[in-house]
Amino acid sequence: MTGRPRFYLTTPIYYVNDVPHIGHMYTTLACDVIARFKRLDGYDVHFLTGTDEHGQKVQKAAAAAGVAPQEFTDRVSANFRALAALMNFSNDDFIRTTEERHHRACTVLWERLAERGEIYLEKYGGWYAVRDEAFYAESEVVTDGEGRRLAPTGAPVEWVEEPSYFFRLSAWQQPLLDFYAAHPDFILPPARRNEVISFVEGGLQDLSVSRTTFDWGIPVPDDPAHVMYVWLDALTNYMTAAGFPDTDGETFRRWWPADLHMVGKDILRFHAVYWPALLMAAELEVPRRVFAHGWWTNEGQKISKSLGNVIDPHALVERYGLDQVRYFMLREVPFGQDGDFSHRAMVGRINGDLANDFGNLAQRVLSMIGRNCGGRVPIPSAFSPDDRALLEAARLLLERMRAQVDRQVLHGALIDMWEVIAAANGYVARQAPWTLRKTDPARMQTVLFVCAETIRRLAVLAQPFMPDSAGRMLDQLCVPADRRTFATLDTDHALLPGTALPAPAGIFPRYMVRDAATPS
Ligand code: MSP
Repeated sequence: MTGRPRFYLTTPIYYVNDVPHIGHMYTTLACDVIARFKRLDGYDVHFLTGTDEHGQKVQKAAAAAGVAPQEFTDRVSANFRALAALMNFSNDDFIRTTEERHHRACTVLWERLAERGEIYLEKYGGWYAVRDEAFYAESEVVTDGEGRRLAPTGAPVEWVEEPSYFFRLSAWQQPLLDFYAAHPDFILPPARRNEVISFVEGGLQDLSVSRTTFDWGIPVPDDPAHVMYVWLDALTNYMTAAGFPDTDGETFRRWWPADLHMVGKDILRFHAVYWPALLMAAELEVPRRVFAHGWWTNEGQKISKSLGNVIDPHALVERYGLDQVRYFMLREVPFGQDGDFSHRAMVGRINGDLANDFGNLAQRVLSMIGRNCGGRVPIPSAFSPDDRALLEAARLLLERMRAQVDRQVLHGALIDMWEVIAAANGYVARQAPWTLRKTDPARMQTVLFVCAETIRRLAVLAQPFMPDSAGRMLDQLCVPADRRTFATLDTDHALLPGTALPAPAGIFPRYMVRDAATPS
């Protein structure tokens, strides 16, 4: 066991009724960036993702595909693993709710709740939306122009009447409100926190936690006519992967409670209300944070299979490049808000931020070093105030980005980074090393050294967002593999003057705009 601080973060587990699209990719990408950032910053990280395989929605999708649910989930779950490979996600575990370890965890959590009198048997009569796998109160249901009854999410609801176990959620209203008050950063961004608090203040009803009209789920202990409600089953995955039910074990003690559950805004209520209430009721620790991000639309339209505008991450990566897609998704939209995907915006970011700003900086500096310094790391002499100002801005960047990442302000971390890139480009223009080559070659070496050192820091800090491209930039500067963590940023000789460098090669190519007129 390591003495390093730990960080446990999770994505939602994805329903296997569908092929992965950019919405799913987005949640995991955000977690991947945070996981990589934390690892480079010295944390022992456990990064979990996986698939949510039980419930009526998946059972229906399997039936529609004409295969048994297990065979169906095996097939679709594999698509989410393939997505992780495609996107260079660095998850440490991939959980499937059909695994035996999870079955055990759910059974024990149920028993803990039952032993504490938190679950009772009754009859449920109410509205249910299979698409959301959620129950809705009469007051929430609306009727559309065609007389169909819909949940506030737009999902059709059906009337359900069946025997059901209930969780005494209503008893947890005040403890939840007290918990939110004592942990002001439990729910982020703050606007979402306020929404959750008003919802809880409005009063909580007991929650139906079992179903009897289908069987694709984990049976209720001692009453196998019931399967557990799929959200109770799904939320428990976060503990399964942390070693539950072995609460005395080293694994659970190390990893629970989770530091961060990353979720989309549509599933915040499950994570910020039901989940902490269930955990408190079972006398288990509550996670430290739930962050809700926004939703993507496609060229202004809601993304949906029926509209036929689902964006396939494979096609995007093939067209624009992996790190370009990773960068775009996290830079284009303030993390936490809704955003719109458009090919024009993608091309703008690739050619502006990546090719012109960052790519050009590296390319210009490295080729000047190649041509004018014999292809070796330049040898600096005394630094001027302008040199020092840039070096200092680059040095302070880690702290600024760390503060942003710690509050999941991922676009903010990139904005901070691009401020330093802009400062470096301004510095190059002011210092004009191409002129110094003739007038003052020693000064030129100093200027190019300051640039190379700034690029080194930028590339180290860019690794979580664009691991391949940043890695190639560091290769071009001959930064050894063991000098790429944040702790080594300030070590001497990370950039050793006089070291022979490889011939520079462009890292962020321009995207030819004429191709953008015909999006795939
Ligand atoms: N299975 C549940 C989660 C259980 S977690 C204990 C579920 N799955 S999901 O596959 O429907 O959605 C998973 C995630 O994808 C959610 O965080 C959701 O917000 C995200 N997205 C799905 N479509 C999206 C967009 N169009 N835009 C951004 N994210 C979206 O919910």
